[in-house]
Amino acid sequence: MNVLVIGSGGREHALCWSLAKSTLCSKLYCAPGNPGIAAVAECVPLAPGKQDELIAFAKEKHIGFVMIGPEVPLIDGLADRFMAAGIKALGPSAKGAILEGSKGFVKDLCRDFDIPTAAYQRFTDAAAAKAFAATLGLPVVIKADGVAAGKGVIIAETREAADAAINDILGGAFGAAGSELVVEEYLDGEEASFFALTDGEHVLPLIGAQDHKRAFDGDKGLNTGGMGAYSPAPVLTPEVVEKTVERILKPTVRAMKERGRLYVGVLFAGLMIKNGEPKLIEFNCRFGDPETQVILPRLNSDLLAVLLAAHDGVLDQVSLRWHDEVALTVVMATKGYPGDYPKGSAIKGLDEAAKLPGVTIFHAGTAMKDGQLVASGGRVLNITATAKTVREARERAYAAVDLIDWPEGFCRRDIAWRALAREG
Ligand code: AMP
Ligand code: GLY
Repeated sequence: MNVLVIGSGGREHALCWSLAKSTLCSKLYCAPGNPGIAAVAECVPLAPGKQDELIAFAKEKHIGFVMIGPEVPLIDGLADRFMAAGIKALGPSAKGAILEGSKGFVKDLCRDFDIPTAAYQRFTDAAAAKAFAATLGLPVVIKADGVAAGKGVIIAETREAADAAINDILGGAFGAAGSELVVEEYLDGEEASFFALTDGEHVLPLIGAQDHKRAFDGDKGLNTGGMGAYSPAPVLTPEVVEKTVERILKPTVRAMKERGRLYVGVLFAGLMIKNGEPKLIEFNCRFGDPETQVILPRLNSDLLAVLLAAHDGVLDQVSLRWHDEVALTVVMATKGYPGDYPKGSAIKGLDEAAKLPGVTIFHAGTAMKDGQLVASGGRVLNITATAKTVREARERAYAAVDLIDWPEGFCRRDIAWRALAREG
């Protein structure tokens, strides 16, 4: 069957890399893709917002399955559009994608269905929000309700910072995403990402990973989309996974069905874990980036078959096989990210780096300019390695990083520090 992947980041490169191996996949397209993806799929210059053009393209190329990578097209109803055109597509409908599209919706769902999460209230009025925030300890967490490109969450360390965040959000700093906000209790503990697929009825747990959100070593600097990840994450013990599936994922899928919002696709739970108890920080309606770059290298089953089973409502018939190996990815970003950064710097040495044992390089923000690979985004490359141990995977990934000639780039040097600290 012909397959179309929507998106252009490292997550979509990993998806294409995995789908290209499927015996069910005859021709793979990616819209819009990137130069790394072009090695495994035919890239089509159509942005995810070009819904009419994407539908026309899928019809013309007899696409049998569409995998939508990022959240914004899902929230905008792209899956609904494909389905209405008679083309199979995964993830969720716009009604389902509200799990990522509205933090307030999720918090109310957690309250109504007894799903463990931080105490909270929703507000559209600044004075009321400030009054509630003042009843919580510090730090306190202020969140724009909608999707704000990862910037709508403020962990306020002081009352003044909390009040300022409330003013900013309701004052329009995040546009419509901030017409409402959530004030919530700060959770401490260790964060991890856990993934499942659901067909709306059955929940198929995948595996977890640990991301590194801050820009610099030692978890310093600003929050980013993620500077590296590894899988498995030791904090996700079998008991924590079991609690996550039984207390968070399954009740959510049931609740969504009950609410008339059948949820089909990837369900990504951002968790805070303390003393073996997982609490939900947030849901995402898609695979994680960079988590996917360490989840899919560990998958030893046909990804396309599994995604199709989710779409077709037969996930109960699927059992997955995983490699024992550890996977780790280091994100190389343009200096300046997550703030302003220049575009167009030349990247060299990737071919040599990719030849190292166990190493796979996924592209995120890259482009070709006059026959030369250049950086075109904040997060640019995901240097991924698999190995028997996390220590070895990390050595392999950084050996590859050191072969890459890109003076304008930087990366964290401490990916997987929590796992290594546990080993002592
Ligand atoms: P989100 O966009 O909801 O993932 O939030 C971004 C980051 O803020 C999360 O990855 C957490 O590190 C942090 N965060 C969000 N909510 C809380 C909370 N209630 N307690 C502690 N940290 C939080
Ligand atoms: N790495 C976190 C995310 O994909 O949202």
